[in-house]
Amino acid sequence: MNKDLAIRELTEKFGTRLNVSAADRERHGQDESSHAVMMPDAVLYAAGTGDVVAAIEICARHRMPVIPFGAGTSLEGHVAAPHGGLSLDLSMMNRVLAVHENDLDVRVEAGVTRQALNAYLRDKGLFFPVDPGSECTLGGMVATRASGTNAVRYGTMREQVLSLKVVTATGEVIETGNRARKSAAGYDLTHLFVGSEGTLGVVTEMTLRVYGRPEKLMAGVCRFPNLQAAIDTVIATIQLGLPVARIELLDELSVKAVNAYSGLDHTEMPTLFLEFHGSAPAVDAEVSSFSRLAKEFGGSAIEFADRQEDINKLWHARHQLYYATRAMAPGKHVLTTDVCVPISRLGDCMLETRHDLDESPVMGTMLGHVGDGNFHTILLADPNNNGEMRELERLHERMVTRAIEMGGTCTGEHGIGLGKIKYLEKEKGPAVHLMRQIKAALDPIGIMNPGKLLPNPSLGEEMDNQR
Ligand code: LAC
Ligand code: ZN
Repeated sequence: MNKDLAIRELTEKFGTRLNVSAADRERHGQDESSHAVMMPDAVLYAAGTGDVVAAIEICARHRMPVIPFGAGTSLEGHVAAPHGGLSLDLSMMNRVLAVHENDLDVRVEAGVTRQALNAYLRDKGLFFPVDPGSECTLGGMVATRASGTNAVRYGTMREQVLSLKVVTATGEVIETGNRARKSAAGYDLTHLFVGSEGTLGVVTEMTLRVYGRPEKLMAGVCRFPNLQAAIDTVIATIQLGLPVARIELLDELSVKAVNAYSGLDHTEMPTLFLEFHGSAPAVDAEVSSFSRLAKEFGGSAIEFADRQEDINKLWHARHQLYYATRAMAPGKHVLTTDVCVPISRLGDCMLETRHDLDESPVMGTMLGHVGDGNFHTILLADPNNNGEMRELERLHERMVTRAIEMGGTCTGEHGIGLGKIKYLEKEKGPAVHLMRQIKAALDPIGIMNPGKLLPNPSLGEEMDNQR
């Protein structure tokens, strides 16, 4: 890699939009997790697809890694630069290009945030459902195949993406699909890039599905005497096919964290945060079916949030839970994990994990998008205490292994990045070999986000040795 030459050419081409200041490089060398900071050599603020093409061409010529960057809110070290390189910041590419109300789709640039899109859609009676906790870009959400609290009803990013404009690792611009709701035309390139974590190319624009606002929406909380009762209710809800829009579980410590961080006063018991969407009669019927079920398992009556303001507050607090957990113990190392299992195994997986946590000196919250069988623990340890740090890893390993053995996955929504690399092979076995072949075909010189997603031998490491 000829880094200096690459940076000189990039500076000539992009002027002040190329930034090499330590502060900016540091900001781009880390996400919102506790993964170590690994700074890129430079940061480029791309203004359009043409910039991305030009930057990739220069980087490819000099074998310089390219790491796409949206808002830096990922949780598995996706944006860190273990081999240096160029952080390609797409946050300036933040235009909504088209809204097709009659077709319920939109065209946006990759740097539009989910919040900005929803603000844009609000007065059109539309909304975009995928909602990770952070203020993140849609490009980043495509890259990580993100989801959130609405996935149980509307699906994850995988279900929302109709087409992507991608700049490949060789600087070619392709469109992977079109605006048709379905297509049987050839390999599904759209979904190859969804979840590819910037390792195959850079997504610069996308066509996404959007939805009409429901006629009626009811949200509230339901408390349970213990975790098991809450989980049993969730499993029964899903097995019965009740189309809940959101069903989120917070354990006692999560409720405590949310109360402290967001100034709320929920009783500290395992709690489901719920939302129902639909026509008025349908929502009323679903609410009463759910209430009957919850009661059978010992749950409280649903405490509804009455005004829109209260509903917003409820979900805002839920979205802040990661930050709320961190705030319980400032300065601690945080390990967030994210597994997903078939719904019938959710109880076993969560309760065994809870048991591990109860026996452990390490403290952590447990929460989840439980309607999908997806849950997290957010574990806290003193970074200067080796014993605690090792304990974090032990708990992590046990939780992930358990989920995989139950027919689940090592990550339901946060992705592989750096943090889950060692589990990919465990979960996918020989399929990882095919992933490597795809990587080699699409990124022959290995410049796209090297060192992420695939276990070694990583092309990035080979490249590093040649420096
Ligand atoms: C959440 C993040 C941690 O669910 O995924 O809050
Ligand atoms: Zn989550």
